[in-house]
Amino acid sequence: MNLAENTNFMPQKSVSHFDFDQVASSYDSWYESARGAMYDRVEKRAIDKLLADIDKQSRLLEVGCGTGHWSRYFSDKGFDVTGIDSSEEMIKIAGQKHIPNSRFEIADGRNLPFEDESFDVAAAITVLEFTTEPEKIISEMVRCVKKRKGLLIIGVLNILSGYNQKRKNKLGSVYSSAHLFSPQQIQNLLGRYGQTRIQITGFLPENERLFWLSSLWEYFGRLLRQKNGAFIAARVDL
Ligand SMILES: C[S@@+](CC[C@H](N)C(=O)[O-])C[C@H]1O[C@@H](n2cnc3c(N)ncnc32)[C@H](O)[C@@H]1O
Repeated sequence: MNLAENTNFMPQKSVSHFDFDQVASSYDSWYESARGAMYDRVEKRAIDKLLADIDKQSRLLEVGCGTGHWSRYFSDKGFDVTGIDSSEEMIKIAGQKHIPNSRFEIADGRNLPFEDESFDVAAAITVLEFTTEPEKIISEMVRCVKKRKGLLIIGVLNILSGYNQKRKNKLGSVYSSAHLFSPQQIQNLLGRYGQTRIQITGFLPENERLFWLSSLWEYFGRLLRQKNGAFIAARVDL
């Protein structure tokens, strides 16, 4: 079976493939590292583009918000943010950041504690890879978003990226438990809910000595519409 095209996931009882409570206190150090900051920059640029025409005053639900790193980005854009995560420790850290116009609670993305159509946008950034039932999370996000003009924003790690494969093969790392996705697989998962736009980004050199060339790497990766960037950003208009 071609793993990259398989959209059937084994339902399991546990919430996540990895115990994020264990890594909560060190989680943000990734974003502070040279490589983490570089990936963060290009990922945000891709999400920026997908949000370009959206009313930033609207209500946004962030599923799997973790330590609130992306919640701060959404809040800075002007959204009113509700972040949920199944990890108590991750949510504790997000709450301690006192991000304006945001609130955080512990919840399971597979069974969201919100009424139908109570948000304008629902976002999940690098979450679906770590959940036991990504399809259920997406259907719950769809339920909680307005049927008219509602929007999903999804970010996932690309299985076609050599760097992601390397991360996944590192025993004991957060990524070793991740189910990576291909762009086609994301299209298959999301396309049934509405018009889906996909951007692939994160064409960065693996060798840190070549980091100074990263803008060029990214530029050509996007120009040539390469499929193996590390990050897939998607927008669904419901
Ligand atoms: C890799 S972290 C990403 C955190 C944040 N979105 C970011 O990009 O910094 C994945 C997060 O998804 C959460 N998660 C996994 N399964 C979940 C579920 N079923 N419901 C809610 N959160 C979940 C984990 O607890 C973890 O905080």
